[in-house]
Amino acid sequence: MRIILLGPPGAGKGTQAEKLAAHLNIPKISTGDMLRAAVSEGTDLGRQAQEYMDSGKLVPDAVIIDLVENRVSAPDCKNGCLLDGFPRTLVQAKALDRAGIDLDYVVELVVDDEEIVQRMSGRLSHPGSGRSYHKIFNPPKVEWVDDITGDPLVQREDDKEETVRHRLHVYHKQTAPMVEFYRGLSTDCPKFVEVQGVGKVDEVFERILSELNI
Ligand code: AP5
Repeated sequence: MRIILLGPPGAGKGTQAEKLAAHLNIPKISTGDMLRAAVSEGTDLGRQAQEYMDSGKLVPDAVIIDLVENRVSAPDCKNGCLLDGFPRTLVQAKALDRAGIDLDYVVELVVDDEEIVQRMSGRLSHPGSGRSYHKIFNPPKVEWVDDITGDPLVQREDDKEETVRHRLHVYHKQTAPMVEFYRGLSTDCPKFVEVQGVGKVDEVFERILSELNI
């Protein structure tokens, strides 16, 4: 099964993608996590991406399309994958289509901007895996420590309120038209579903599962 998970920054894509990928036993492909790994390894890609990411802008389409096309052709994606944070522009969506990567579902997580600004101020992230927590809404078992690896958690550079507001602006300007493109397809394959992303993490997950009919 191939699914894309769309939604504004902080809508809970990473949180839900982790659960859904485990549930379906398919890899989660997060362009944000891949870019952050490249930044921390100091690769050429990381150097190109860092300035865009820190200021809350989108990394250029050509760079991202290359990255995703390489990743989805890996053997572990043979039975499907879950794309988190890609595509984010119409150009990226069309590249996915041209590459013959057929989708089963396009899931949009809907959360309003003010709720997102509040969420981001409490987010804690595990740099190695991209796992997200929240100080109040989704706390780790031990404060500032990843549940799985025991590594320390960090606050992301781009989670400052000013940068989050800019990322939301970029989402409404550059990504929302692409969401409308998928919504307008009215096909069964891919099937577009809209899921309210507010409520407990497990409640949102149940809503997604019921929409996917699995
Ligand atoms: P990326 O890492 O993809 O960031 P994003 O889309 O802005 O999304 P986030 O990771 O910030 O949020 P999320 O929706 O995953 O929410 P989360 O689950 O963490 O991208 C970062 C940057 O990389 C971009 O700005 C861009 O520069 C670049 N980039 C990446 N992909 C690109 C592309 N395709 N094209 C161009 N550039 C690209 O949850 C957020 C918080 O809320 C957490 O604290 C979580 O615990 C909490 N939470 C989750 N669910 C709930 C709930 N139900 N109730 C309360 N709190 C909740």
